[in-house]
Formats: sequence, C-alpha cells, structure tokens
Amino acid sequence: MNKFLLGALSCLLTVASFCQTNILPTPSFVELTNEEFILEEHRVTIPTHVFTREQFAVLEAYYKAVRVVLEETDSDPMVSFSYRKHLLPEAYGIEIGDKIEIAHNTDVGQFYGMISLIQLIDYSADAKKNCFPKGRIEDAPKFEWRGLHLDVSRHFFSVDEVKSFIETMATYKFNTFHWHLTDDQGWRIEIKKYPKLTKIGGFRDSTVIGHYNDSPRKYDQNNYGGFYTQEDIKEVVAFAKEMHINVVPEIEMPGHSRAALAAYPELSCTGEQQGVPGLWGIFDDIYCSKEESIVFLQDVLGEVLELFPSEYIHIGGDEAPKTRWNECSQCQKVIKENDLHDSHELQSYFIKRMDQFLTEKGRKLIGWDEILEGGLSPNAAVMSWRGEAGGIEAAKQGHFVVMSPTSYCYFDYYQSSHDSEPLAIGGFLPLEKVYQYNPIPEDLSEEEAKFILGGQANVWTEYIPEYYLVEYMTYPRALALMQGLWCQNKPSYSEFLKVYLNYHEDNLSVRGVNRSISLHIPEHHVDRMEGGVSYKWFSVDTTATFRIWEYSDAPETTLHELKNGDSIPIMRGHDRSTFLLKLDADNSANYVAKGSDILGAEVYMNPPPHEKYNHNGSLNLVDGIHGFKRWKGDEWLGFNDKKIELTVTLEEVATIDSLTIGFLNQNGSWIYLPEQFNVKISEDGEEWTALLNYELDDEEKLIVRPGLNVSAVNASAKHVKFEVIPLEKIPEGNVGAGYTPWTFIDEIQIFTR
Ligand code: ACM
Ligand code: ZN
Repeated sequence: MNKFLLGALSCLLTVASFCQTNILPTPSFVELTNEEFILEEHRVTIPTHVFTREQFAVLEAYYKAVRVVLEETDSDPMVSFSYRKHLLPEAYGIEIGDKIEIAHNTDVGQFYGMISLIQLIDYSADAKKNCFPKGRIEDAPKFEWRGLHLDVSRHFFSVDEVKSFIETMATYKFNTFHWHLTDDQGWRIEIKKYPKLTKIGGFRDSTVIGHYNDSPRKYDQNNYGGFYTQEDIKEVVAFAKEMHINVVPEIEMPGHSRAALAAYPELSCTGEQQGVPGLWGIFDDIYCSKEESIVFLQDVLGEVLELFPSEYIHIGGDEAPKTRWNECSQCQKVIKENDLHDSHELQSYFIKRMDQFLTEKGRKLIGWDEILEGGLSPNAAVMSWRGEAGGIEAAKQGHFVVMSPTSYCYFDYYQSSHDSEPLAIGGFLPLEKVYQYNPIPEDLSEEEAKFILGGQANVWTEYIPEYYLVEYMTYPRALALMQGLWCQNKPSYSEFLKVYLNYHEDNLSVRGVNRSISLHIPEHHVDRMEGGVSYKWFSVDTTATFRIWEYSDAPETTLHELKNGDSIPIMRGHDRSTFLLKLDADNSANYVAKGSDILGAEVYMNPPPHEKYNHNGSLNLVDGIHGFKRWKGDEWLGFNDKKIELTVTLEEVATIDSLTIGFLNQNGSWIYLPEQFNVKISEDGEEWTALLNYELDDEEKLIVRPGLNVSAVNASAKHVKFEVIPLEKIPEGNVGAGYTPWTFIDEIQIFTR
C-alpha cells in the first residue's frame, strides 16, 4: 500500500512522465515516459510454455484485435516473466525499458500483465499503433470477488456462448462466474441420479411473449429448453480455470424450483403434477421441507461438488413463499420435531441442512440475502441483492458478503429510457450509475468491511432470449462495475468514459462483443423560456452535431444544425401547426412539439405527481414532448390519487378551439385510463364554468389522446382546469385489484382561435 502511495506521488512529480493509459480497470500505479518501445512488424514475442494453449489462443486473439501479432519463441523473446515473492496472487507489474518484464506471483498475474500490456498501445485514430510507452505499472485488485452472473434457466445459452461470456470477462479481470443453473423455467445441469431433472425439467412447452406486465398476457406454444451434460460442465469449468475464473454454480432451493418439481412432483408439498412454467415470477410451489427433499438436494449437490471445484456453492434461497409450507402437514411436522417457531425458521433449518452438508464436504454455502431470515447458518456467506441491508447485517454478524444490490448491479435493467432499447424487465441502470457503485456500505466499520468479499452484477435473462443481447446488457456496464471492484483509487466517471470511448468501445466491437451504444443516445433537456420552451441535446460525443428537421404545415422543412448543448427555441402557438423535430443522430425519436398555446406555460398541479414519476415537474405536461416511450421513460407524470387537477393559465383571454390530454393505458403495471375528465374554464380564475365532461371507454390502445374540438361553443377563457377522475379501484380479476390505479399523463395542449 505504501509503495502504491509513493508511486502515486512520484507520478505527480515527474515532469516527463504521465499516468493516463487506456488500461481498464485502471491500474493502481502508472508511470510512463515519452520514450517509445517500438514494435518491429507489429509483433510481440513471449517465451514458450508460459501460457497453456487455450490461454495463448485467447491472448493471441486479443492482440490480433489491435493488429499485433503475438508469438512464442525461445530465442530472445521481447517479454520476460519474473516471479516476485512479495506480490499478491492477482497482482502484476509491467516494466518497459529496452526489454519488457512482467512481474507476477502466480499465473494470474502473468495473464493480467499480458492483458494490460496490449492496452498500452494507443488505439485512437490518430495514434501510432506500433509502440509501447516506456515506463512502469504496478497493479493489484481491491476485491477478491469480482463477479458476473448469468441466468441460463429463463433462456438457455450454449457451451460456446458461455465460454465466450467467460473469455470476455477474463479480459477485464473478472474472476468469478456465477452460473445460475436452475430455476422455475428450466433445469440446466445433468444430474445422473435424477435424469428426469433435465429430461422433463429442462424443457417448457410455452413462453410468455412480451412483458410479464402486459395485459392480457400472450404465450407462444414452442418447446423451449436445453441443458448441459456433465461433460459440457467440465468443459466450461476447465476453460474458466484457464481464464482464471472460478465458476460458482447455483442450485436454487427451496423456491424457484418448479422445473425440478415438474420432474419430481413428489418433492412438493401437494404432490400435484404441474408443468415447467413459461411465465416469469415467483411461484407458491416450492420444495417441501420433508426429509426426502433434503436427501434429494444433497444428492444433487453431491454431483455438483464433483463438477465444480469452487469453494463457494450457491444454493439460492431467495423468493420462497411460505404458502405451501404453512398448509403442509409434513412441513408442520418438521417444524414441530425441530422446535421451530414458524416457516421462516423452517427456511433457516432447510438452509442449515445444506450448510452442514457442504461444510462436511469442505465447501462453503452462499445464498441470496433471504437466507438471513430465521437465522443465518454458521458458515454461510450472503449475496446481498435486495439493497445493501442484508449484506450489512451479515457483515456485522461476521459472515462474508458479496454485494449485488439491484439498484447498481442488475444488468437486466434498462440502460437508457430510449425507445430503441430492447425490451427489459424494467428499472433504470445507466452506465454512470453503475460507475458510482462502491461495494463497501458507509455504515460498516473498517473491521466489518473486511467481510465484504467484493461485488457482482447479475444478468437475469427473462427478457434476454439471445446471446448477443446478453452482451448488450453486460457491456459496457461490466467495465464500469469493475472499476469499483478493482481500483484502489477509482478515477472520475469522465476519466473512465474518455478511456472507454478512446479504446474499449471499439476494441469490444472489433472482438465481436455486442456492447450497447446506449451511452451515445443524446439526452434532451427542456427549459421554460419567455413565450415557449427551449430544447437542447447533449451527447457523450462532445463534437457531435445534431441535425434537426423541423416539419410543419408550412410547405418548407427547416434544417437546424446544433452543437452539443446548443439550444433551439420553440415558441407558443407556432403557426398553430405541428412542429416535428426529428433528430438525425437518434433515428427512432421524434420530438413532437406541437405549437400549442400553452407550450411552456405555468401549470398548477393538485396534488403534485408521485415523487417516483415527477420528472421535470409541471413543465413535463407542456413541454411539447409526447410520451412515445415506454412508461419508464421520463415523459410521463404519474399520479396515484382519487382526483387530479391541472390548471393552466393562458397569456390572455382567448377563445378555445380545441384541446387534448394524453393518458397511458398499461394495466399490467397498474396504470389505467381515468374514468372521466372534465374541463372547466374561467376568465378570472374565480368563477368556473364547465366546458366539457368526457368519459373514457375501455380502450385497447397504449396511449389515449382524445382530440376535443370545442369550436362550436364560445369558450372564452384565461384559465383552464383539467379535472381527472381515475377509476376508484383496479377492477377484480386484474393485477393490483382493489388498489388505487396509477394515472399517467404526458401532455396537455390547448389551441385558441
Ligand atoms: C433475485 O434477484 N431474486 C436474487
Ligand atoms: Zn411440505
């Protein structure tokens, strides 16, 4: 540590040196000079037999991506490797002078050294691509558990795809692959003693189409599934070992077990034969806690231990409803015989039985934070996913913890709110938010913090049916997460972004990794201004120009060219016609700014929207931007009230021709069209007259925007009040039945004569 500190200091003081490189994760200490180590013929040579064939092949491909040939030779290789006793197992050093030396303690350090070395070749368009800078790097990770998880149950990925996932991980110095092998929707690992697990549990005969929350739900009727034979598993584990990645298998229990129960229904509480579900979610049917289930699961784990050398074995433990256990005489018997209080302690008992089994075999149990319920088993480690509270509690109790809270680590969440994102489970986890993550919660003491092994991101695949989408959801977010897991002193987000854009974005692409480009989607900002609103767009590409097409009823179309952050004004009542902005850099988004007479006007909202859905406040209702995106987007204000009043003031008394208001209709997410809305008008803000009462029918459409022409009446007004009356309750037979529905509104518009 002291050495690193000294290093950082000298980096500041040495004039002819610099410490910015393209290496990700960012190394602990870098001191480079302006002198160059020239690569003859774009070639790097290393001694033979340092790396295995498989390792060499991966490194060779990695070097080739930047057009450098990697070769083994016994005659005077360019790179030498030297063992250093004092280095930590995963640490490495690189010294580039007239020769290149990679210092290491283990073969992990050799591999990491080679990965970092090639990232020293500047890959930007205008750089020379045939030299290393001379200088020195010292590096070691902050955390020992640097993980990515992959769910292969909801969707199945082939051995080659899994190996590809592991290979990419290795090139960013991840060292733990959490393989989620079993869940309700598919059992994916061959167990010789119980062949029906894969024969029956490995396949489902339908899968929900679209989102879980869609209403009504639709299903395909396709047979879907697959599994890994034990030979496949061995192949993956062996490859991962070469990549210095430990594979932690997960066998889910007692919940998320419908696929296993489809194969062996006698292990459930009811014994009822049910199929492998094609719907996502949490199911009441879980393993019965009777002895047969325990024996079965210990048999399964026995075979798992033969295949996976991992110290930690993941037994799930999350989301296990106690509905069946509470009603099951056999479960109640287990409670009684073991002096347990309730079914929560029964879960704890169940997990303890697995903990004992694994401990006897010299392994350690890890499970999701629900395993804390009813008392944590003595040797268990906790993976904290429902926020950090479970991890904090476990660490305070002296248990090891891996942090994986949904808010920073769930890579099944959306990366932007843009319409072009592939369908996802929900949530919002852009790159910058991942970057902020630090696995050590603030409320742990230094001693307690030692129990945090590290962190991990989870790739749940309900909405990720293909491998290229696995990559899309994982990269570049995994690089942002790794900064928090590796760096002793994490650089700022903007420094990270510069390095990512300068090197890794293209590098990932050249290596065939389908990284997301969500971070390039320009963000728009709307401001109120005198007489209307102004829009501006921002992009991470600071030199970007936005070509914005302005369509209107006028014959000509106007082209605006804006630089990053330039603003364009849109005035109220503009031509009384549609003003459509089509952003060139952003091929699916149209910013529909209809020149309404209340564009940018003040709106009084009573009550205000719910804090979760209140982006930009009342301006959102009069910013001219229709909520064309999914409802997680920023364009909708969400209300959860019995009555909503939106009162807007025109510039002067005028006669209203027409008006509109836009509602979202997404019942699976508890969002309903209101029953009715009324419009009242007033000239003085005190005396109000009803202009219209409008009842909304049951509509199939996602967005309902009634265009209400009132030109036949004399609607002279300065103040206009929209009074929205939601349904009292969500109707029976629907999700959320009995609760107050959400009302989502994107825009109100008024056109005067
Ligand atoms: C989980 O996301 N249910 C661990
Ligand atoms: Zn039972």
